[in-house]
Amino acid sequence: MSMLKDTISQLVKKSNSSTIEGFLSYLANEFPGEVTFSTSFSYEDQVITHIILSNHLPISIFTLDTGRLFSETYTVWNSTNEKYDTHVKGYFPDKDLLEKFVAEKGPDSFYKSVENRKECCYIRKVDPLKRALKDQSVWITGLRAEHSPSRHLIPKVEWDETNGIIKYHPILNWSGTEIADYIHLHNIPYNALHEQGFVSIGCAPCTRAIEPGEDFRAGRWWWEESNKKECGLHAHPQDPKTSALGDEAKL
Ligand code: ADX
Ligand code: SF4
Repeated sequence: MSMLKDTISQLVKKSNSSTIEGFLSYLANEFPGEVTFSTSFSYEDQVITHIILSNHLPISIFTLDTGRLFSETYTVWNSTNEKYDTHVKGYFPDKDLLEKFVAEKGPDSFYKSVENRKECCYIRKVDPLKRALKDQSVWITGLRAEHSPSRHLIPKVEWDETNGIIKYHPILNWSGTEIADYIHLHNIPYNALHEQGFVSIGCAPCTRAIEPGEDFRAGRWWWEESNKKECGLHAHPQDPKTSALGDEAKL
């Protein structure tokens, strides 16, 4: 455990003294073939995709195709492949798990209970994520602190006990304006829903636009209490199981 703590502390120091591109390149050298980035094709994820692909960094990029994404999201997936001459890999839900779940509970059971919703998120996102992270050492995400109060507590580099992987959130502290400026400056493809009041974009039946001034997470699973609104992709830092390195990693 202490070796792990040292590794995380060193990575935190290194990330604080490097550019995003420089630190990503460092990670790719330190962990060859074991650094991967998860994209939902949101504004923030597109910034990271651009940094990785325009610098030809040897970092794989994947998306979790839940089967319930907005058509606009597939449009960005296509335009990203075309712009960067790449193929972002899709991970899909296990067909047996999904067929059983939908047969027993119906296609939209997530509206009926938090348990159903979590089971749906597990089958469509968390289980495929496990496959995507298999044999990887570093997981890059586009998490942003502004998106939810619990995300203010997340360090930029952290140990994810649940998945046994180092996580790096390069644009954790960027503002919405910084993201938008970067996207437009570099002519990066983006999800048209961002122009219609959508901030954080997930599955179509579980995401809606928010009003100006509303909480950023208000558009996700709006029928649930706010403290239940995480899909299980990102463990809470206050969870004792995942906070062992929290203080160290906040350096
Ligand atoms: S979630 O926890 O609510 O679903 P959010 O939409 O805020 O996540 O996105 C945070 C980060 O999680 C993204 O920047 C991305 O790295 C990852 N992520 C979320 N959804 C997906 C997805 N469908 N495919 C791949 N990565 C995703
Ligand atoms: Fe299912 Fe909604 Fe979770 Fe998507 S966000 S996996 S549709 S419950």
